[in-house]
Formats: sequence, structure tokens, C-alpha cells
Amino acid sequence: MKGIVFTEFLDLVEDKFGLEMVDNIITSSTLDSGGVYTAVGTYSFSEMLQLLQHLSANTGISIDNLLLVYAEHFFSVIERSYPGLLATYKDPIEMLASIENHIHIEVRKIYPDAELPTFEVLEKSEKSLVMIYKSSRAMHHFGLGLMNKTFEHFNATATIELEKLNDQGTKVKFIINKN
Ligand code: HEM
Repeated sequence: MKGIVFTEFLDLVEDKFGLEMVDNIITSSTLDSGGVYTAVGTYSFSEMLQLLQHLSANTGISIDNLLLVYAEHFFSVIERSYPGLLATYKDPIEMLASIENHIHIEVRKIYPDAELPTFEVLEKSEKSLVMIYKSSRAMHHFGLGLMNKTFEHFNATATIELEKLNDQGTKVKFIINKN
């Protein structure tokens, strides 16, 4: 997992819960990095999982909800860092349907070692999209947060349903209806 995901996460934890919480979740985890991340570095996903687990235990907020809130913050990082990529799109459905064939392809050019999910489009119309998310990291709620913000970015809203296709959440159906 890319360092930017860690640095932005820890910034948000500091902002919402204070530096003591950052310290707490780092020292209670077993981290090869020692909890020191650079934006362009690459670190094990298990480090993120431990940080999330400890933050969840300390705050009583579920990992899914932490990932949702984190993704909403991460979207502003994307807006700031990749304005050109977002400017390619005029419509949220078009943008979400292009994650697999365009957006994450561009991301991989920037970070060849990025660990990205796959999104398979099953159905698409002007106002709706059905996609299957697959990733061993089960970060579907990170996806949900990015989708919410994608609609907001285009001054639109949507109803997004999530259907887990297995217990681990490594395969999830997203049913998206633009309002
Ligand atoms: C992960 C970039 C749009 C879904 C990531 C990562 C980056 C990235 C850098 C982390 C990879 C790693 O740590 O190795 C971008 C950029 C986007 C974009 C630049 C737009 C310009 C989206 C959108 C979605 C999405 C709209 C909506 C569903 C995800 C998910 C992950 C991810 C779910 C977590 C990894 C996983 O589930 O395996 N993306 N992304 N991305 N992205 Fe995107």
C-alpha cells in the first residue's frame, strides 16, 4: 500500500482524535516501518489493518465507518493531486464506470506497485451503474466513500447499495442509482 494512504490517514487521525491517538495506535501495532511513512514509499497492507483495528478499538467506530470517513477525506487529496484526471469527466456515472479502464490505469503508471482493486461493470445506464468490487483488502467502504464524494464533486447525489458476495467482503456488488 502506498505511503500517501498512510500519511493522509495519520493526518486525519491527528486532526479528529489528536496526536496522542496517533501515538497510541502506532505503538500498539507491530510495524516494520516503525510508523514512519513517506508519501512515495510502499508499505504492507497489514500495517494499515492494524492501525485501523486499534483506532476502531479505541473509538468504538467500526472499521467500515472509519474507512468511509477516511475515503471522503482521501477524495480531497485526489482533487488536489490529480485535477487533470478528474477534469476528464463531466458525469459521476461515467467517472465511476472508468475506474478500471482509465483511472486506476493512470494511477498504476504513477505508482507501478500500487495495490488496486478491480471494478467490473455489469450494467450501466445514464442514471445507474452496477459494479462488482474485488480486492483481497476488502476496502469496499473506502470505495463507498470515494463514490459518495464523486457524486458530490459533480453536484449530484446518489443512492448506493452494497451487497457483500462473500463473508470476507473481498467481493462486493455496488448498485448505484443517481437521484
Ligand atoms: C486505492 C488513486 C479513484 C476505489 C487507490 C490508491 C490510490 C488510488 C493511489 C492506493 C493504492 C495503494 O495504496 O497501493 C485513485 C485516484 C483516483 C481514484 C488518483 C481518481 C482520480 C477511485 C474511485 C474509486 C476508487 C472513484 C471508487 C470506488 C479505490 C479503492 C481502493 C483504491 C476501493 C483501495 C484498495 C483496494 O480496495 O484494494 N486509489 N483512485 N478509486 N481506490 Fe482509487
